[in-house]
This record gives sequence, structure tokens and C-alpha cells, in this order.
Amino acid sequence: MVESIICRDYRALSDRAAEIVLDTVRTNPEAVLILPTGSTPVGMYARLRKSEADFSGVSTMNLDEYCDLPAEHPQSYRSFMQKHLFSGVNLQPEKIAFPKWEGNITEQCRRYDAHIEAFPRIDLAILGIGPNGHIGFNEPDDYLIAGTHEVVLANETRAANKRFFAKEAVPERAVTMGIAPIFRAERVLLLAAGEQKCAVVHRALSDKVTPRLPASVLQLHKHVTVLLTEEGS
Ligand code: PGA
Repeated sequence: MVESIICRDYRALSDRAAEIVLDTVRTNPEAVLILPTGSTPVGMYARLRKSEADFSGVSTMNLDEYCDLPAEHPQSYRSFMQKHLFSGVNLQPEKIAFPKWEGNITEQCRRYDAHIEAFPRIDLAILGIGPNGHIGFNEPDDYLIAGTHEVVLANETRAANKRFFAKEAVPERAVTMGIAPIFRAERVLLLAAGEQKCAVVHRALSDKVTPRLPASVLQLHKHVTVLLTEEGS
């Protein structure tokens, strides 16, 4: 079931997204959350930081991480999360998880899947969407992958993310959670800000389900809330 909510502007989208997260955490103080990075969730994270809600029992797992950037690199997703959320809420460091790329990637992916699978319940998966319809870094391809895996980023993704990298090249590879944990989540919250994103969401949710447009698979999920606004983030 997909419910779409059109928000007046980016501020309203961020308010609504934060409310959904806070409701989840109030209902279950030990909630398990899947978290996104990117410019779209920045407003939501700002509201969570201001909320003074109790995150001490909450566990988080991030969707993806660039390969070849050390965790402390300013453009790593770990640094992004530190800045936008972790530094401002009382999440316990041992309850925060990221996919890792260092050393043997296949082994790192297997470990991340084992970590995810150990949770009997995933309460909420929050997702952005790429201009090419990717979710996490599950890029358009001939197939979708259930588990955590290494991915070569699509040219479109690297071009879109260039804005975050002043001089350096955008990494070519990343590690991403696969589709399975998103489907295990009781609820998915998909955030899309800007006309281009709204158009991709519309295509993904109103046409055929295809791995060429990974977000289209959300049509098959039991509970998806899409927050849309034409105003960019
Ligand atoms: P954005 O990225 O929020 O920075 O647009 C979303 C995504 O690529 O998943």
C-alpha cells in the first residue's frame, strides 16, 4: 500500500517526516530505523536534533557508504550522519551501524547482513530517491540484489553528487544495503523534494515494477508513505 502526501514546501515535508520518526520512537523506544543521507533528509534531521526525544534505546542502520573514503572524510556518509543527527541526539554509539568497505568487502557485506538480520523487527526505513530512481545505492540494472553488496555508482548518481565534492572526484564505488531489509521494515518513508524527484517518484509508483527503476519495487511493500514537495531541498 502506497500513500502519497503532497507537502506545501520543503519545510512542511521535513516537519511531517520528523513527526513520523518521532511517533515511531515514542511508540517503540527500542525502534530500529534504516536511515538515508543526501540533501533531502537534512531538514528532517534538523528537527529530530531539536526535538529532545529520547533515542537512547533506538538502533540505526545506514543505507549506504562510499568506498575508498575513510570514515572521518568530510564527505563520508558517516561524517554526514555525525553532523546532521548523531551529534545532536542521544543515540548510543554501539546502536549505530554502517556498511563498511575496508578489507574484504564480501566479508564486510556478509557481516552487515548478519547484523541487520539479528533484529527481529525493523520499524521504519527512511529513503531518499536518486534522479535515476535508485534507493540506497541500488542502481538501475537487470536485477535487484537482496543483501548488502558493492556497487559501481551510475554516472547519473556521480554527476548528481558532484555538488558535494569541491575538488575531488566522486568515489566510483559504494557499499549499499540491498532491497531485503527495506522490505522487512514495517513501514517505509520515502522523501522526494523538487520537481525532478517528484517526476521520478511518479514514474516509479505508477508504472511497471522494474529493476531499471529500483524505487518501483516499493509498489510491492505493505506500507509506504511518500512525502513529496515540488520545492527542492
Ligand atoms: P539527495 O539524494 O537527497 O541528495 O537528492 C537522494 C539519493 O540519491 O538517494
